[in-house]
Amino acid sequence: MQLEGKVAIVTGGASGMGRAVALGYADEGADVVIADLNQDAAQAVVDELQAKGRRGLAVRFDVTDPQACKDLVARTVDELGHLDLLYNNAGIGLIKPVWDTTPDEWDRIFAVNVKGLFFMAQAACEPMRAQRSGKIINVSSIAGRRGEALVVAYCASKATVISITQSLALALAPYGVNVNAVAPGVVDTPYWKEVDKQFAALQGKQEGEPFRDVAANIPLGRTSVPEDVVPLAVFLAGPGSDYVTGQTYNVEGGMVMS
Ligand SMILES: NC(=O)c1ccc[n+]([C@@H]2O[C@H](COP(=O)([O-])OP(=O)(O)OC[C@H]3O[C@@H](n4cnc5c(N)ncnc54)[C@H](O)[C@@H]3O)[C@@H](O)[C@H]2O)c1
Repeated sequence: MQLEGKVAIVTGGASGMGRAVALGYADEGADVVIADLNQDAAQAVVDELQAKGRRGLAVRFDVTDPQACKDLVARTVDELGHLDLLYNNAGIGLIKPVWDTTPDEWDRIFAVNVKGLFFMAQAACEPMRAQRSGKIINVSSIAGRRGEALVVAYCASKATVISITQSLALALAPYGVNVNAVAPGVVDTPYWKEVDKQFAALQGKQEGEPFRDVAANIPLGRTSVPEDVVPLAVFLAGPGSDYVTGQTYNVEGGMVMS
């Protein structure tokens, strides 16, 4: 058990990769707070954590609200005793041609994927700085490694996550807090179902076709499932990564290699 006695917050933990990582952390001994817009789905994940013998807390939460981030951290420390791990995962996508992307759409992507992620990390690092230990894992994407014609706002937001990860890592290194990022590829989650629908509408394809087209070009021969990111997420939360900070790791079947 690599995370025995640790307390984690997983934002967007009610679905997809957040849920898989929350369950993976519980398997390694951690208690986990599931913070998500969707309270019912968050509670269902907490029920799964508790069935594994862990403590859990489902919090209805909007990452775009900096005060909600502070309140979430305070409640976690109050009810579970401390905060050791943040899996900073809540995120949304947008498939739009460059010339049709509106200011509101741009702002919404950045409010969730960048501003929310930053202020969540800022809130979480307060107890971590005080206890002089902690691990923050930010969720980027292969979209942060390269541009895509129909994905400009999302790509920019996920590239910014890589930059924020490096700055936070430098700011928090003197306090014994490690900050790293994961960059998943094409993962079969509700997020990609929505992305697939948006691609299909723009490209005149049937729903499901964009997903299959992308899958055909993945060197390891398949798309990803949420569980593919769990071993790396556990490594970055556990003692094996104590000398690792400021890094972004791809988990994407060989699509990008940079
Ligand atoms: N699915 C992919 O192919 C893929 C690839 C690379 C990166 N990512 C990133 O991984 C992360 C998780 O994606 P997923 O595919 O598991 O998605 P998902 O849609 O299955 O889960 C995302 C969760 O985030 C929650 N959420 C959305 N906005 C929120 C907000 N404002 N406040 C709190 N919670 C909010 C949703 O309710 C949902 O439970 C996202 O940051 C996404 O950008 C996904």
